[in-house]
This record gives sequence, structure tokens and C-alpha cells, in this order.
Amino acid sequence: METPKLSVLPYKGTRDFFPDEMRARSRFFDSVRRTLQKECFEEYGGPMLESLDLYAAKSGEELAKEQTYHFEDRGGRQLAIRPEMTPTVARMVAEKIGELNFPLRWYSFPNMYRYERPQRGRLREFWQLNVDVFGCDGVEADFDCIKAAVDILTDMGADASMFTVHINNRRFFNDVLASLTGFDAASAKKVSKIVDHKGKVSREVYEKELTDLGLDAASIQKIDALYDMDVGTATALCPGSAGATELGDLFDLLDKTGLAPFCTFDFGIVRGLDYYTGTVFEVFDNAPDNNRAMFGGGRYDNLVGLFVNNAKVSGVGFGMGDVTLENFISTHGLLQAAEQKTARVLVARFADVPLSEYVALCDAFRRVGVPCSVYLGSKKFGKQIDYAVRGGYTHVAIMGGDELAAGQVKLKDLATREETVRPRDRAADDLC
Ligand code: HAM
Repeated sequence: METPKLSVLPYKGTRDFFPDEMRARSRFFDSVRRTLQKECFEEYGGPMLESLDLYAAKSGEELAKEQTYHFEDRGGRQLAIRPEMTPTVARMVAEKIGELNFPLRWYSFPNMYRYERPQRGRLREFWQLNVDVFGCDGVEADFDCIKAAVDILTDMGADASMFTVHINNRRFFNDVLASLTGFDAASAKKVSKIVDHKGKVSREVYEKELTDLGLDAASIQKIDALYDMDVGTATALCPGSAGATELGDLFDLLDKTGLAPFCTFDFGIVRGLDYYTGTVFEVFDNAPDNNRAMFGGGRYDNLVGLFVNNAKVSGVGFGMGDVTLENFISTHGLLQAAEQKTARVLVARFADVPLSEYVALCDAFRRVGVPCSVYLGSKKFGKQIDYAVRGGYTHVAIMGGDELAAGQVKLKDLATREETVRPRDRAADDLC
């Protein structure tokens, strides 16, 4: 009887990246990195495993209890595979709080895991760019993060017709609810959870949930009106609110710096994570097929304080997932023109030349910066050429016994099929 074979498929909600897919990914990862480096953000990294407590403390019920992969290690510690990066980066800031040069402007592009139902835009393993500013309480840090998010997309060739940054403010949310309904912050938090998943339930369920919290039809109508308001009309409802002032200042800055066409006030954005305290925002693809948020973030004033008594280091930032961004790039046909063929050389092998000579020739290409490898194996020349074509090489270096004796190399251009004979010590001329 045959033994059952193992599955060749990856675990549900995770992806294999074959070299062609990896090349396309590298293009957009490189583009993101170039934008952030141009803006002087610094890259950091952290561990994949963290104490489960880290997420239980502030991430919110859904993420900590339902979506986090967790287990007990052999020493009895409760660990989680990171479902997000913000608690890790807050811990790292707390760890070196006395030494760091604030304000910090940091980014990281780690993979993370969430136990979610795989669907368009949502997987169980995904990569998430995290951009955060620590140690600046002013609205300019919120602006700096929103600008980075816009620049990441426009540097890929996107324009304002393709995406929109939806912005709200948690302090404003609480204040305007208090002024319209008399609700305190604890009740406002319950309303925020309902507003957060409004798009995922029917109107009846939404209204029932608000009614169950004690809101009457008139209050529900007042909340409804907020969804259609622009920032000026909404903030005028509670002029004494610090959140309203922050929103006003932020939109003023966005206006004066030319970012207003990319941004809109949206009372429906509250964010599911519990730690946000001020500005909150999400970036949406304007294409209706990709209706999930590509980026989500906001200001969180209390996270570092979880680790260090009396620490006062505020943070603001966002996470951007690779899955929704890939959908955005392919839907709008971005980044395609960026592919530029640089030379890649395969050194062909013949039986009458020792391998060490090919290794030396290969090194000569590499030394001047031309990517090069020696063919592995002993197939016929024609098969080696086929291998080079399928492998994306641009040239094949040919050095049989005769060329070796004459100190020469033939270079075959795979696009034109032309061969040029050159002295061995100038084999890489005009390729680098
Ligand atoms: P989040 O809203 O949970 O925020 O995730 C941010 C982004 O990560 C989402 O907009 C989406 O692009 C991507 N994402 C989330 N879950 C998945 C999934 N299952 N599959 C694919 N992509 C996903 C946070 O994680 C915050 N820690 C972000 C942040 C950084 N806030 C401040 N700094």
C-alpha cells in the first residue's frame, strides 16, 4: 500500500513566493523603501514572538483574543506570534527610552500572522509596513505620517483619483458624541465599536446595536448626519473640543501643503484597535473591487507608558498591508514601466576547460558589479542557452579550450543573438 503523500500546498491563508512573484514584490518593497529613506525614516526590526500580554493589554479584544496565534513554550510562558508591530515598537522605545534621539521617525516591513478568514485583501500571513513617529505631540507628526502614506503611493505613479485618505479623531469622536447624546467616554467607546463595523452589518443590526446602548432615534439621526459632514461643519458642532482643534489644524496643514485633494474627513473611521487616542486614518483604494483599507493608523498617546512608569512618549503611525497594496498596484497598472533590464551573465561550461577557470571568469564579472553565475551541470551548449533564456540572463559568456588558449571570451547577447569576441580581461566592458 502506498503511504499518503504530504500536501504541496502552503498552509491556508499563507503564500509561496516563486521567483517571478518575488521579483514583482521586490519592486514594490524597493519603491516603498526608497520613499521612506528619501524622507529620512530609519528602519528597525523586532522579534516574531512576543509575550501574549503585550497584545492583551491594548490591542483590543478581537485582535488579542480571536486573531492571535498563541501557544505555551517549554518553559510555560504564554507567547504570541506577532499579529501587529505597534506593541513591539512601543516596547523597544520603552527599552531604550533614555538613549533615543526623539522625535524618532522609524519604519519596519515585517511579516505577521492573524487567524482570519482568508478573503480578498485578508490573509493569515501578510507583510505590513509600519511607519511611526515617537516623541512629538503636535499635529505635524500626524501630518508627517499621512504625507509618507500619500508619497508611498504617488511615488508608485498613483494620483488622487485612485485613493483617498479618510481621517477622523478619537478625541473629537468622544466629544461630539457627548455633546449630541450626553454619552461619557466609556459609552462612546461602545458606540465606536458599532461605528467601526457599520459597513459589515445591515442597517437594522446597526440601529439595534445603538438602540441597545440607550440611543433614541433622534440621536441616531444626529450621528447619521455626521457621516456626510465636511470637517468644518463637523468640528463646529463642538468648538471647545481639543480633538476638533487637532482636526482643524491637521486639515489646514493638508490644505496648505497640497495634500487636501488626497484626503477627506470621515466620521465613520474610528479604528478597531483600542490604543488610539487622537487622529485616526485609513487609506482606501477608490476602485470598488478593493474596498478594504490599504493603510490604517493613528495617534496613540499611552502605549510606551505600559512599560515605564510616568513615561510620556506619544506615538503616531500607520500599518500598510502588502495584500491590499498588491491589489491596488495591479488594479491601477502601477510600477510596470519601472522594470529595467540590467545585464546578467551566465558563464557556459565546456568539458575541456577546468571549472576553476570559469569561477575566475565569473568573479571578474562580479567584481565590476555585473551579476553573473557559472552554469551548474554538464548539459550540451544549446541546453545551457535555453537555461539562460528561461532564467532571465541577458548574456552568455563562452570560453571553450580555444578561447582559453587565446585569452579571449565570446559574449553572446541573448536579445540580439549577436556574439562579440573580447580579451578575457575586458569581458565585462560596456555591461556595467
Ligand atoms: P490594522 O488596521 O490592524 O492596524 O492593520 C493595518 C493594515 O494592515 C490594514 O489596513 C491592512 O492593509 C493590513 N492588514 C491587517 N490585517 C490583515 C490581514 N489579515 N491580511 C492582510 N492585510 C492585513 C495595525 O495593525 C496597527 N498596528 C497599525 C499602526 C502602526 N498603527 C500605528 N502604527
